[in-house]
Amino acid sequence: MPSFDFSDSIGRWMPRAPEMAQLLNANSIVIPHLERFLNRVMARARAELKGDDPEKARIRADISTFIKQESCHYTVHGAFNEMMLRNGYDRLPELEKDIVAHYDRLLATKSLPFLIAYCEGFESLTPPVASGWFDGSMDPIMKNADPNPANMWRWHIMEEFEHRTVCHDAFEAIHGGYWLRFYGFFYQFVSMERMVGRVYRYLLSVDRQTMTSEEIKRSKTGARRSVIGFFTPIIGGMAKILHPRYTPRAIPEPKGWDATRSDIEANWMKPQQAPALAEG
Ligand SMILES: [Fe+2]
Ligand SMILES: [Fe+2]
Repeated sequence: MPSFDFSDSIGRWMPRAPEMAQLLNANSIVIPHLERFLNRVMARARAELKGDDPEKARIRADISTFIKQESCHYTVHGAFNEMMLRNGYDRLPELEKDIVAHYDRLLATKSLPFLIAYCEGFESLTPPVASGWFDGSMDPIMKNADPNPANMWRWHIMEEFEHRTVCHDAFEAIHGGYWLRFYGFFYQFVSMERMVGRVYRYLLSVDRQTMTSEEIKRSKTGARRSVIGFFTPIIGGMAKILHPRYTPRAIPEPKGWDATRSDIEANWMKPQQAPALAEG
């Protein structure tokens, strides 16, 4: 569990690209609901993968680690999102009700193979966006950014890359059909962008309430640039993801990923609690 402190953070935490910060924040609002859903689906998948087969036992163990990592992610994003609420984005709980309803509806009405394909749809999107967070190419827009949310994202994407095979393995073990994976990918993608888009438009509308017409014009240009910058690596990665023989195992480790993990572990982890002394 990392130790980010959002008590002095603000929504526009990237001075060079505040609209990009708000696009990431809109993702952060959806993420705790999405990740609770991922955990519920993957717990169902783990229960389905019964038996002593070593491959199934390995996937079950990977799912258990996955669930622990996602639980840390939604706890930290939840703390960040509370900061947003304190900072005057007070209609967020209203928007979040629809997000919760989306995941509840899926859990109540869809088959387990579809739900895993949906989860894999989300998980497969991290590797294409990962390298930008580790190789220094985002440094110019991150100049003077608040290090707490910036490193929250580096930590989260670092761990997403780490567990990139888990949903894919579970899907292959339980169903493995190409067209269901294809359908789950697009269903997830469209649903996620609809929910994130709605939150993003709301966050920008709050910011623009106090802007001059010149500032609003600049904000609109910044928002267009942010959306293009956000989606370019995703669209670029889609051909690989949608290939029938796609496997996240074939994705090379992004440059700087390992160094990012060492940096986060050295500088941002909560100190380990001392183990209880044995009696006597
Ligand atoms: Fe996550
Ligand atoms: Fe994940």
